[in-house]
Amino acid sequence: MQEELEALLQRRAQRRGGRALRCLDRVDSTNNELKRLGGQAPDGLAVLALEQTGGRGRQGRSFVSPAGQGLYLSVLLHPRCAPQQLGGLTAWTAVAVCRAVQRVCPLSPGIKWPNDVILAGKKLCGILTELENNPQTGGASPVVVGIGINVSQRESDFGPEVAPVAISLAQALGGPPPRLAVLAAAVLDELDALYAAFPAGGAEYLADYRQRCLTLGHPVQVLRRGVPKEGWAEEIDGEFALWVRWKSGQRERLSAGEVSVRGLLGYV
Ligand code: BTN
Repeated sequence: MQEELEALLQRRAQRRGGRALRCLDRVDSTNNELKRLGGQAPDGLAVLALEQTGGRGRQGRSFVSPAGQGLYLSVLLHPRCAPQQLGGLTAWTAVAVCRAVQRVCPLSPGIKWPNDVILAGKKLCGILTELENNPQTGGASPVVVGIGINVSQRESDFGPEVAPVAISLAQALGGPPPRLAVLAAAVLDELDALYAAFPAGGAEYLADYRQRCLTLGHPVQVLRRGVPKEGWAEEIDGEFALWVRWKSGQRERLSAGEVSVRGLLGYV
């Protein structure tokens, strides 16, 4: 583990209201690491790794996580909310990542519904939220929120399939990205603020989400079980669901997870 990263993060850990942070050089997946700890892990425990050998994305995809090129971070939360409010947590996290990036770089990211963080029409960060069943205690299930931010990759680092839809901070800035420790500290600060506000402060996160949402007000192609359908992204409701108006004129409410959405002119 880079010494600067370790030192900065350990100092911060003491200021996180006792919420601990574990820094690893290499792990299969920071989400897996927290899931292995399961219900025993303390509330707010964060795991950060310099490299993931089995990074996971949504819908069973892998998330390539080369050493030192990205920020790979997961947090375990025991949210105090009704199960139906949990869906918003990933969207809140997208807002938190945008704010963190904006704090440390002269960049203002947008969000592709439901929760990809976007710069220049390409994906900067993906978020994978997983519910940890907790049958032993029968209590509310803890949640693992995993964040992967592309930091210093060049186009050739992404490979031919990913390069057209991915971007790093270095590419977006056209120069050196912020140091991993600085970016990590900003993300952890924003996650702490999110957790303090969740779920009561929803109106403010929703307003920021709507402002940043690049999908809203645009034509979209919705893929459900591989079948494409075109419509218009009209509204994000209070639970971060997307309302689409189909060409027939009918409206439908889409929840994250059941469909994937693309712009008609590209990834966003
Ligand atoms: C996606 O866009 O499909 C989600 C990508 C999530 C990647 C992060 S990196 C840290 C955490 N550990 C993982 O294995 N996945 C998430």
